[in-house]
Amino acid sequence: MSSTLTRRRFHQTLLGAASLALTRPTLLLAQDGPQHYELVAQPYAHKLAGPSSEVSELWGYDGQTPGPTIRAKRGKEITVTFRNELSEPTSIHWHGIRLQNAMDGVSGLTQDPVPPGGTFNYTFQPPDAGTYWYHAHHESWKQVAMGLYGALIVEEPEPVFAPEADIVLMLDDWRLDRQGRFDAASLGQMMDWSHGGRLGNHLTVNGQAQPRYQIPRGSWVRLRLINACNSRILEMDPNRFGGRVIAFDGQALSEPLKLDYTPHLLGPAQRVDLLVKYDDAKPIEMQELSGQPYTFATLDVVDSGQAGGSEPQLPANNLPEPDLENAGHFELLMEGGAMGQMGQLVYNGRVQSRMDFMTNKQVWGFNGVANMTEDPFLSVARGQSVIINVINRTNFMHAMHTHGHHFKILERNGISDSEQAWRDTFLIGAAGGTTRIAFVADNPGKWLFHCHMLEHAAAGMTTWFEVA
Ligand code: C2O
Ligand code: CU
Repeated sequence: MSSTLTRRRFHQTLLGAASLALTRPTLLLAQDGPQHYELVAQPYAHKLAGPSSEVSELWGYDGQTPGPTIRAKRGKEITVTFRNELSEPTSIHWHGIRLQNAMDGVSGLTQDPVPPGGTFNYTFQPPDAGTYWYHAHHESWKQVAMGLYGALIVEEPEPVFAPEADIVLMLDDWRLDRQGRFDAASLGQMMDWSHGGRLGNHLTVNGQAQPRYQIPRGSWVRLRLINACNSRILEMDPNRFGGRVIAFDGQALSEPLKLDYTPHLLGPAQRVDLLVKYDDAKPIEMQELSGQPYTFATLDVVDSGQAGGSEPQLPANNLPEPDLENAGHFELLMEGGAMGQMGQLVYNGRVQSRMDFMTNKQVWGFNGVANMTEDPFLSVARGQSVIINVINRTNFMHAMHTHGHHFKILERNGISDSEQAWRDTFLIGAAGGTTRIAFVADNPGKWLFHCHMLEHAAAGMTTWFEVA
């Protein structure tokens, strides 16, 4: 696995695991006892489009993208000492982890951004096992695009898959210029902000184009797919290789799910864990189908000499069921963007004029307001169940994300949702699509609720809620 070579700058100060971490960090098993990681955000140079391509100036955790894979264990405390060696402030958000508010890493809401040269200690006990990720949460439309993200795996109390049968595939679409370099000049382009976000033209998996991985033949394998794209909705068809879903957004399903509609849409920030057992010797080509089918990774099937055993079952995490009868009801109307209609859009307490749109780049709104409001979108007492009905009056799909909480999708477009899976990010259909979600607001603090198409979030699709 050549991808591990680029991970040599991985620091893991866990005793006894350090030497292993240098060579196979993605396969490192979490151990008991407190865990301590160090992460440094820093610029690095990388030939994004292969060894013969031009050098791109990127930002990465420990000088690589993705940053080191962090492996925590459910319920066990983990500390990440973070240092900012960038020329601008930043912060780290632990996407999907239902953690303490002060550790959520949202600059300007839960913490001050970490200045250049500054440090911050993140400490939390991840309550849920599963596939998560971490990324910059300060001007994330730029910082994530430049490479500031990594995988965060929270392991089940007892290992369910052997390390060689547990594969993280973190996908990202980079935008390259004509020289094949990272196209920094187009960052922040109004065209992207007002349309479908910044889409790239170079797809990588764990930082590499079209990598190959090995999976053991005849064994149960877990593929953890993470969409780290700024705005691209990835499309894939796991049925082509017999993959069944065992988790969405980190949360285990009660049993493996064979998708009956494909391609499956994996929105920005969403994760899907697939269960595969492959008896054939033929390699599996994993394809992205949103454009011309593109093989983004190949899985070579190797003889392991091990029998498959019985079908593994992920233990469920312990999430509180919302009380739908007594829930508080809220409505979020999504408006704006190119070709959309919008009456007025308030930004910073003032109705925007046409000129303002160009200068502020605030072109989307929630309930008529662009970006953060003085008062939260909703404020409830701890333990209250809430139902949010989200209505999308824009001409684009969106990927809405709640911080600090996972929710259930009750309904899409008026039809009740059969999966009833827990999620932290949902896709909502364009031009009149609706989605009703429900969760127990049990985590005190100030939490963002925003579109995870990062240009949309920056251009107005960000609000917050408060649990007292
Ligand atoms: Cu993954 Cu507010 O973010
Ligand atoms: Cu959006």
